[in-house]
Amino acid sequence: MSTATNGDAKYGSRPTAILHRTPWRPPVASSAEGIYITLEDGTKLIDAVGGAAVTCIGNGHPKVKQAIKDQVEKISYVYNMQLSNEPAEELAHYLVASSNGAFGAVGFVSGGSEAMEGVIKTARQYFYETGQHQRTNFIARKLSFHGNTVGTLSLAYHPARRAPYASLLDERSYHHVSPAYAARFKGAGESEDAYVERLRKELEDKFLELGPNTVIGFVAETVVGATTGVVAAPKGYFKAMKSVCEKYGALFILDEVMSGMGRMGTLHAWESYGDGASPDLQAVAKGLGGGYVSIGAVLMSQRVADGVRDNAGFWKHGHTYQAHPIACAGALAVQKVIVEENLLENIRTQGAHLGELLRTRLTGPNARAAQYVFDIRGGGGWWAVEWEFSVPGTFALDVQSRALENGLVIMGFTGGSNVEGTKGNHNMLSPAYNVTRKEVETIVDLFVKSIEEVLVASGL
Ligand SMILES: Cc1ncc(COP(=O)(O)O)c(C=O)c1O
Repeated sequence: MSTATNGDAKYGSRPTAILHRTPWRPPVASSAEGIYITLEDGTKLIDAVGGAAVTCIGNGHPKVKQAIKDQVEKISYVYNMQLSNEPAEELAHYLVASSNGAFGAVGFVSGGSEAMEGVIKTARQYFYETGQHQRTNFIARKLSFHGNTVGTLSLAYHPARRAPYASLLDERSYHHVSPAYAARFKGAGESEDAYVERLRKELEDKFLELGPNTVIGFVAETVVGATTGVVAAPKGYFKAMKSVCEKYGALFILDEVMSGMGRMGTLHAWESYGDGASPDLQAVAKGLGGGYVSIGAVLMSQRVADGVRDNAGFWKHGHTYQAHPIACAGALAVQKVIVEENLLENIRTQGAHLGELLRTRLTGPNARAAQYVFDIRGGGGWWAVEWEFSVPGTFALDVQSRALENGLVIMGFTGGSNVEGTKGNHNMLSPAYNVTRKEVETIVDLFVKSIEEVLVASGL
């Protein structure tokens, strides 16, 4: 397994009753401000990845703290099958009003996996209510991630995350086509247009194989996150995939849990990285609450909202903590901060600087890492470095681990470079949208230092 065990060495003596998600013991954080985190032993860290692309305005923003405190004073909880609440109503209005007509209604949940479960069930409810009961199939993509519940693991195809549960997953309703990942899978000599057409045809063939009127929808991450690492599709891809859905009356569905709510420098990633192809259904989560609260949302087009409202009249999907007043108040405050402080423009500017610095420092003439870099890619506030197969098998995890020792929180992933999920290493950066130019430079300094130290330690 990974050699990223420095948490053990430095922090492992503290007893824990938590069954942690890492093979090593994660250090314990005790306070945070902006992108700076302080551990219980006083160690200071810079968070260059916002947790997991979550803390989009950093920790401790005074307006969000105040909004949450104010809401606790007013109402902490009502059950959404009995009563609605003010922040939930206001947040839903904001999400509809800021979509340029793409969305007509919103349903709230508590996180990304729940949002994608909600998407699956809303899509099915739409066809159930509109009398197309035969539509039971979803088509998603290989090397995708849509969450860690049993339903979303079936929908997605992340080989490592689904492996232990493979026997529980539904193979009858969920089908998979190729990822849109030109750097690895576009043929040598194949033009980008020809590659897009190949993928469009593969989707249409899958519709025809399943029976076009049995398909509920095609589902994709607008920019792929956890699996392949900030992979945007080639130009024209989403338009082409949406056209297949439209041709056969199916829904075009996007997962923007990670890429949405500003991460790519536009509120929705499809506005900048998805050919402007608005979806019928969309999941958002991480950047919605910015880590202050646990929240996700299902955004529905008017067509889907009307299909449900005009028939059943109500959303059949629900959880106890749906539209939680404190979560909605916190998320609303986060969204207001993003608008008031013009943070989408800031992250577009600082993100471009981050990308340039990564390219210069990792692939420039004197860069020690140059021959090991396969690809540097990203946009807005989300960037990845994918490594050549010549690096050791746990390279990205080793860089993550070394970075932590150097005071920098980043993420490392393996297994995103082939469809089987057995090859590949990449590191990911996704700082808060209010990161400064100077902070970006410090992040890159520490990242490059960590990479070079791991190269030396690996004898490269
Ligand atoms: C694209 C995508 N969908 C869904 C999820 C699941 O979200 P959560 O971890 O909040 O359940 C994630 C999490 O990383 C994600 O990246």
